[in-house]
Amino acid sequence: MCKILLTGGAGFIGSHTAVSLSANGYEVVILDNLVNSRADVIDNIEKITGVEIPFYIGDCRDEKLLEKIFTENEIDTVIHFAGLKAVGESCEKPLEYYGNNLDATISLLKMMLKHNVYKLVFSSSATVYDADNPSERVEGMRLGCTNPYGWTKYMCEQIIRDTCRANKQLRAISLRYFNPVGAHKSYLIGENPKGIPNNLVPYIQQVAIGQREYVHVYGDDYNTVDGTGVRDYIHVCDLADAHVAAAKYLAEHEGCMEINIGTGKGTSVLEMIHSFEKANNVKIPYRIEARRAGDVDSVYANTQKAYELLHWKAHLTIEDMCRDAYNWQCHLQKQ
Ligand code: NAD
Ligand code: UD1
Repeated sequence: MCKILLTGGAGFIGSHTAVSLSANGYEVVILDNLVNSRADVIDNIEKITGVEIPFYIGDCRDEKLLEKIFTENEIDTVIHFAGLKAVGESCEKPLEYYGNNLDATISLLKMMLKHNVYKLVFSSSATVYDADNPSERVEGMRLGCTNPYGWTKYMCEQIIRDTCRANKQLRAISLRYFNPVGAHKSYLIGENPKGIPNNLVPYIQQVAIGQREYVHVYGDDYNTVDGTGVRDYIHVCDLADAHVAAAKYLAEHEGCMEINIGTGKGTSVLEMIHSFEKANNVKIPYRIEARRAGDVDSVYANTQKAYELLHWKAHLTIEDMCRDAYNWQCHLQKQ
C-alpha cells in the first residue's frame, strides 16, 4: 500500500485529506507541531477512518525528526500542508512567516531527496496571483502578492520549481487553493480558528449560533453582481479529493506544475449570507461597512487544468458548504 506523509496533517485541510486518502486505500503518516491544531484531531481522523494513524508531533524544520520519519516509514509521496496562514499576522511577524514556511519547505525537500522520495504535493494559494489580473485566474497569469504570507507561497513554489529543475526525478504539483470552507459530514473534524475569524464563512458560522452579533460586510461598491466581494468557495471535502487526484497523477507522470483548485464559480458576500440563511433556516444579521484593505472585487478559478490533468472537479454546492459549516459550528459549541 502506498504511504503518504502529510506535514500539517492535523490542520483543517490536512485532516480532511487524511480521511480522503484513507478512503482511497492510501496509508497516511502525519507530522504536525500543533501550532495551529490539536492532537485530538488525530483521534477523530481515526474514528472516521477506523484506521490507526502514525502521528509525529514536531516541527517540519527539524531535520533529525524528518530523518526519523523517513527511516521508520517507507514514504512514497509527501503532501506539504505545514505552514502559517494568517495574512494579518504575517504583516506583523514577517520573519516568523518567512522562517517557518520557507525553512519547512527547504528542510522537507532536502530530506526527501536524501531518502529518494520523489513526489510532492504542495499547498499553495490563489493569493499568488497578481491582483490586477482578470477575475478568472488561469495558471499562466502574472504572479505577485500583497502580504508576507502570500510571498511565502510564491517563494515556495519557486523553490520547488528550481529543485525539480536540478533533480529530474523529483515530481511536484503546487495546488493553488481558492477559498476552502465547510467540514466533513461526520462533524468530527472542521476548521476551528483561534480568536476572531478573519475569513467570511467562519465568521458567518459564529453569527449563526449567536456567538457574534452580525457580519461586517466589507464594501458594497465593488464592480460585482450586488457590489459585495466575489470569491470561489470550495468545500474542503472536494479539496481533499483533489489531493488524492494529485497523488495519483504524480504516480504516473513526471513534471513540476501549478494547478488551480476551485469550483470555477464566484459567489458574493451577500449571496453567501443568504445561502447560509436558506440552507440552515437561520437569520444572519449583517452591516455594510468600508472595504477591507487589500481586498479585490472578484476572484475565481479557471478549473480546466485540474480537470484535464487530474480528472478532478468539485461536486459539492454552496448549499452543502453552508449546511456542513453550520453543523460543524453547532457541534463545536456543544463540546
Ligand atoms: P491549518 O493552520 O489548519 O493547518 C496547517 C497545519 O500546519 C497546522 O496544524 C499547524 O499546526 C501545522 N504547522 C504549521 N507550521 C508547522 C511546522 N513548521 N511544522 C509542523 N507543523 C506545522 O491551515 P489549513 O487551512 O489546513 O491550510 C493548510 C495549508 O494550505 C497551509 O499551508 C495554508 O497556507 C494553505 N492554504 C490554506 C488556505 C485556507 O484558506 N485555509 C488557502 C490557501 C492555502
Ligand atoms: C483571504 C486572504 C487570502 C487567503 C484567503 C483564504 C486577505 C486580504 N486575503 O482571502 O490571502 O488566501 O483568505 O484563507 O486577507 N468578508 C467580509 N466580512 C468578513 C470577512 C470577509 O465581508 O468578516 C469579505 C471579503 O471582503 C471578501 C470575502 O468576504 O470579499 C471573502 O473574504 P475571506 O474569507 O477573508 O477570503 P479572501 O478575501 O479571498
